[in-house]
Amino acid sequence: MSSSTVSIVQTARTLGLMTAKRAAGFVTRLLPIPQPSLLVGPDSSLRLAEAIGDFGHRKILFVTDAVVTKLGLARPMIEALEARGSKVAVFDQVLPDAPIPVIEEGIARFEAEHCDAIVAFGGGSVMDAAKVIGLAAANGRHPRDLVGYFRGRRGPAPLYAVPTTAGTGSEVTVAAVISDPEQHRKYVVADTRIVPRMAALDPKLMIGLPPEITAATGMDALTHAVEAFIGLWGTPTTDRLALSATSMVFEYLPRAYDRGDDLEAREKMALAATYAGMAFTRANVGYVHAIAHQLGGLYHTPHGLANAIVLPHVLRALLPQAAPKLAVLAERVGRAGRKTKLEDRALAFIKAVEAMNERLGIPRTLAALRAEDIPALARAAAHEADFNYPVPRVLSLEEIEAILRALLPDAAPTARAGTRTRRRSAQAPGTYSALP
Ligand SMILES: NC(=O)c1ccc[n+]([C@@H]2O[C@H](COP(=O)([O-])OP(=O)(O)OC[C@H]3O[C@@H](n4cnc5c(N)ncnc54)[C@H](O)[C@@H]3O)[C@@H](O)[C@H]2O)c1
Ligand SMILES: [Fe+2]
Repeated sequence: MSSSTVSIVQTARTLGLMTAKRAAGFVTRLLPIPQPSLLVGPDSSLRLAEAIGDFGHRKILFVTDAVVTKLGLARPMIEALEARGSKVAVFDQVLPDAPIPVIEEGIARFEAEHCDAIVAFGGGSVMDAAKVIGLAAANGRHPRDLVGYFRGRRGPAPLYAVPTTAGTGSEVTVAAVISDPEQHRKYVVADTRIVPRMAALDPKLMIGLPPEITAATGMDALTHAVEAFIGLWGTPTTDRLALSATSMVFEYLPRAYDRGDDLEAREKMALAATYAGMAFTRANVGYVHAIAHQLGGLYHTPHGLANAIVLPHVLRALLPQAAPKLAVLAERVGRAGRKTKLEDRALAFIKAVEAMNERLGIPRTLAALRAEDIPALARAAAHEADFNYPVPRVLSLEEIEAILRALLPDAAPTARAGTRTRRRSAQAPGTYSALP
């Protein structure tokens, strides 16, 4: 194809996609999305246990993971449930990224114990596993058959959520991300009925979250907020939530990172993640997630970490379209200063994100990234964004490839940080990689 033909095709693709994305936005705006009642503050998980006890469920499947159990985090809530007369069956086998075989075990347990409610107590992996256990059990279907939008006929048994990380926002979202270890792929189950009925944001449970998980999950929350805010589907409500989440992350993430036992910072980060979840469950995410998912899939890069590294690059690429909104974000986090030009204020926000990454020890490049993988990674990211996300502008394959090339280990002098990434992903493959 000649270069003029390529640019005509690219323009047609861009115009077609942008029209489709705007049209889809009008439809999603009308979708009623339930919102859980929230209990917030130290020991709110125990108050949630009391409330659940009063609902008179026959038996509760308490879904968590072995790390959380080992740390003794779940014991007080289980005891509070039992003290209130609830019968509880504990299932603590969930692994990072909610693998399908583990979900199958959870479904079998839910049925064998004749449960009629679920408590999800853990990070995004636990909450997502619990969502799919409930939906699959209610419909007698395999988790694979629920992948996609509204695939179950019946809603799940009542679900209650207690997040122990501050990042995914799964406690308020319509999504559950599960993984297929055989195919090395992750899938999204989306249904408004899997939003939990109630959730407790209990900062005491997050005190022992290690700094690097605090940083990565916190940057996942920031990315949800920023992508929801600059995309095409924002509403006044999601904009407010995204702006609040952004300023809370800027104020409290460094504090939670420095001192895990700073209860105020932990509580604000838990709220920030929830607000960002509320924003993106309606307004969706964008290119940062589209690219980060491919890095997570291929290299098992922790999801929040991948988002954090990619975020400034995508914002620079979208600067011409997103400048007005990025300038608002800069003002919101106090970085706009006295700059009079819109573009300078927008750039100030991007620089603030870069400074935050630096502050949290997040590298600028990805040690695992190989140049020969870039074309396929870019194609997959473009495909994901084209069909899912209301991005402010459609990027060409070349632009996505350029973003990825900027992340190559020799693209910036960050060898030490890059090594850290390699070690972390080698130790815990897939531990933090996430959709969305
Ligand atoms: N449903 C959604 O809307 C949504 C949104 C974003 C991400 N996700 C999914 O969530 C998953 C990632 O969730 P995550 O980032 O919360 O990580 P995670 O749930 O996988 O947990 C990460 C690690 O931290 C440990 N951990 C959890 N809480 C802890 C605590 N309080 N103290 C010490 N260790 C603790 C876990 O045992 C695990 O080893 C991915 O599968 C991702 O795709 C879902
Ligand atoms: Fe995310």
